Amino acid sequence: MKLTPACSINGRLRLPGDKSISHRAALIAALARGRSEISNFSTARDCASTLECLRSLGISIEHKDGKVVFEGSHELVAPRDPLDCGNSGSTLRILAGVLAGHDFTAELIGDESLSSRPMRRIIEPLELMGARIESSSGKAPLRVRGTKNPIPITYKLPVASAQVKSAVLFAGLNAQGTTTVIETTKSRDHTERLFNGFGVPVTTNSDLSVTLDGPARFTAGAIRIPGDVSSAAYFVAAAMLLPNSQLTIEGVGLNPTRAAFLSVLSSWGADITTTDVKVERNEPYGTINVRGGITGNAGETERTLDRSMIPSLIDELPLLAVVGSQIDGGIRIRDASELRLKESDRLATTAANLRAMGAEVEEFPDGLAVSGPTQLHGALLDSHGDHRIAMAFSVAALLAKGDTEISGSECVAISFPEFFPLLESVVRR
Ligand code: S3P
Repeated sequence: MKLTPACSINGRLRLPGDKSISHRAALIAALARGRSEISNFSTARDCASTLECLRSLGISIEHKDGKVVFEGSHELVAPRDPLDCGNSGSTLRILAGVLAGHDFTAELIGDESLSSRPMRRIIEPLELMGARIESSSGKAPLRVRGTKNPIPITYKLPVASAQVKSAVLFAGLNAQGTTTVIETTKSRDHTERLFNGFGVPVTTNSDLSVTLDGPARFTAGAIRIPGDVSSAAYFVAAAMLLPNSQLTIEGVGLNPTRAAFLSVLSSWGADITTTDVKVERNEPYGTINVRGGITGNAGETERTLDRSMIPSLIDELPLLAVVGSQIDGGIRIRDASELRLKESDRLATTAANLRAMGAEVEEFPDGLAVSGPTQLHGALLDSHGDHRIAMAFSVAALLAKGDTEISGSECVAISFPEFFPLLESVVRR
């Protein structure tokens, strides 16, 4: 994709449903006996992978009048073929948790990127719960032999990961007794909110432990998925950095474990407000309003993102590194070695692309230091097949002098197939 510089971002948008919430809502709708309807379901290819896997597990799923309609069942059926999770870590890891509580064997496979990502983090707790999982040295393909009576466990997460937390909680649905997951840093809590929203009480305690009493069953029902706040982030950042911008994004998820980048950007001088906040099945959503231009100077110390902040910013960090290259004092990201284990090594791919555009970047094992402000220049960039890298550098391209070409940019479809047409609809040149 070739991108040319922009003057401003102006307009009003609504975005397809949140990817993380859509995965979970689909799993819940599949496991709730009877009919459930999901509106504004994510258009991400990752979520289509989840739907395909659920169909292979015997669930009837139809697209009707813009909704995804499920005929769910408490009992899944053994799949005939391997379940293809594509590029989707959430599909593979969370579905492994679901399968751990079912009495059959299923194989989970993924593309090259997914097959290189670490899976011991789910294998360990799910085996403690009684599942048997064969892997290729801790990576996919995984052969999961589940059990109808999973053992309820108390499990302290060695890494802050909502996917691992969710895998254990989904397995705990079929366990006789209390399953507890203890986090050291709070990760996104969509699973907890939706379990409560669909009739399975989950308690989040002040010590960051989450408990679920099994066995437990969901009640079928309807949900409208809020717009994807991680997709909104690219538009918000572009509007903030292009001075005459004025952008409104309606109906976006505002869950605090996901929307932390909004307060980070505000603390860096962005003019961002949220209005019209409502709640759907425990998930807050509302309107984000951005006016272009950065006011004030928050001071360099506040430009370090580390430890407790990382999990709630995890998918926005490449974008925040791009924003950092544009602001006084730049930005430091630390304690984020998890970024090396995403769809690409996001510390390496972010650093390489920023440098190719003329930014000064120092790379650490667990982070980056990006100097700013820098006038970026157009360059030939590689997305490394990573949707978040392609989108973060599309924003960088709007700010650069000269044209930018991003190879492999069609990978944006993994989370946001409409990204380029929607961007074009609000960009002024
Ligand atoms: C996700 C959790 C995060 C995030 C990913 C989606 C989820 O991964 O990076 O894009 O839906 O639970 P980790 O659990 O590996 O941190």
